Amino acid sequence: MSEHIKSLLYQYGNDILLSEEFQSAFRQTHHKCMTVAEHSLGVAIVCLYICLILQRMNISVRMRSLTIAALCHDLGIMGRHEKYRNDLECFGKHPEDSLEVIRNMISADEYNDVIENSVRRHMWPLTPVPPKYQEGVILTAADKISAVMERLGLSPARRLDLNHPIMN
Ligand SMILES: [Fe+2]
Ligand SMILES: [Fe+2]
Repeated sequence: MSEHIKSLLYQYGNDILLSEEFQSAFRQTHHKCMTVAEHSLGVAIVCLYICLILQRMNISVRMRSLTIAALCHDLGIMGRHEKYRNDLECFGKHPEDSLEVIRNMISADEYNDVIENSVRRHMWPLTPVPPKYQEGVILTAADKISAVMERLGLSPARRLDLNHPIMN
């Protein structure tokens, strides 16, 4: 199953992974024990595992949009100490800032409402408005699962041997 996850990750996310924005995310720590990039990879991996489970239940998920949303959901947090006055402001504003990063990274053809709404609402249920699409619900769940795993020293990005140039 892990080889399948890796191939899906590279199929849908390779351009993001190789981008300057994502590369720079390896240089900012996140959740104290991670980098923004490793956390984002972990969230994308957990999302894809959830997709495969749902597929077995005949529930189809827009995996390309979900993978892009997962890899980019926190990219707006880059430079947080210069950009935001405190953690609360960071908490509230980084989803919109991530959307701005995404709009500059991917083409207008690739950008869609699934990506936009999923990233905008990814802090739910810590923020009041839930995601509109099932992909957004998967993203919010995967974000929390990955964060807990990282805290426990079980980072999904480190456990799945990614064997990709970005990890070197
Ligand atoms: Fe976030
Ligand atoms: Fe996150």
